[in-house]
Amino acid sequence: MKAIILVGGEGLRLRPLTCNVPKPMVPVANKPFLEHMLDNLKRHHIDEAILAICYLPDRIQRHFEDGSGFGLSLTYAVEETPLGTGGAVKNAEQLLDDTFVVFNGDIFSDLDLTDMIAFHREHKAKATIALTPVEDPTAYGVVETDSQSRVKAFIEKPSRETVTTNLINAGTYVLEPEVLSLIPSGVHHMLERGLFPDLVERGIPFFGYRSNAYWIDIGVPQDYLRLHHDILMGKAIARFPGKSIADDIWREDGCDIHPSAKIIGPVVIGRDCSIGEDARVAGPAVLGAGCIIGQGCTIDEAILWQNVKLGAGVTVRSSVIGNNSAVGDNTWVSDGSILSDDTVVGSDNRLEHGIRLWPGSTIGDNSVSF
Ligand code: GDD
Ligand code: MG
Repeated sequence: MKAIILVGGEGLRLRPLTCNVPKPMVPVANKPFLEHMLDNLKRHHIDEAILAICYLPDRIQRHFEDGSGFGLSLTYAVEETPLGTGGAVKNAEQLLDDTFVVFNGDIFSDLDLTDMIAFHREHKAKATIALTPVEDPTAYGVVETDSQSRVKAFIEKPSRETVTTNLINAGTYVLEPEVLSLIPSGVHHMLERGLFPDLVERGIPFFGYRSNAYWIDIGVPQDYLRLHHDILMGKAIARFPGKSIADDIWREDGCDIHPSAKIIGPVVIGRDCSIGEDARVAGPAVLGAGCIIGQGCTIDEAILWQNVKLGAGVTVRSSVIGNNSAVGDNTWVSDGSILSDDTVVGSDNRLEHGIRLWPGSTIGDNSVSF
């Protein structure tokens, strides 16, 4: 069976992490997010995927090429301008001749695809949508079903007063090719506002498959941090690079860790990292390749991308620091702060309360307390 993964969005809500990389290439536990999605496809014997791309397409194509390095076959359907979730699927129509699966490209889930596909067949559905319960459904597509699991209504991003269920569209669909005839060609079309309500209206067999499997949309920075927390704490299944060197500590080759440094798992350490004297790294935390952690630093529930350089006595807590950034001595970064790529922060600053620095930002010594 073929899968189509929608990875054309700009990831605006995840900025500044997505200023330089498309959302599917954002690293999660030291490998691009999309590689984790492909792992789940392979677990369910789906070995052919079409990537529907638009924003920064080269970054994705250069990394994945024809998929052979990742154990599956990949083809690309490129949009010149964004066609929307439905337009993107329609754009790949000539590649789809049998039952296929569609994925939103920003969902991390342990969904049992094999069971969902069996459910679709048993119900002789033309379309089946995975449903997951969430606390606040208003940020998602809300799906009402009847006692036979048939979809009665699909309401995208409803107002709070109109919400009748906490079951939302989990962003995975099994579709029969014939429903593609209901999507117009070459124009912007959203499955959520077009095809799905249309299927309900026409009475076409459209079912909801409820799942309580782990599920998260990495659309915003807090959820990006939460996904790391959940993977490292073992709540979500994921494979990531590195050898297990102690309980809940994984490390790649070429690292230099000072004997007095304390590493308290779960921690993932990329290759060629150096951790200085008396530094303390407490998980869940990830250090990307080539990070240099100075003497006496404290890292606590933080995600560092590649080649991040921390001076002496730096604290990074519940925050993300992008590639090739440097932070000076005794600076404090905490509370969901996001420092994007190539930022340079001098010594003795306090960056807290979810401050966001765009790529290439520079802050002098002792100049910010936020
Ligand atoms: N190729 C392509 N072209 N992909 C697109 C386009 C496009 O024009 N627009 C969006 N996408 C991709 C995004 O890259 C993302 O992977 C996916 O489609 C969903 O888009 P989001 O922008 O992340 O939508 P959302 O999170 O607000 O809502 C969607 O996901 C929810 C679940 O997380 C909807 O499908 C909701 O109904 C759903 O509940
Ligand atoms: Mg999303």
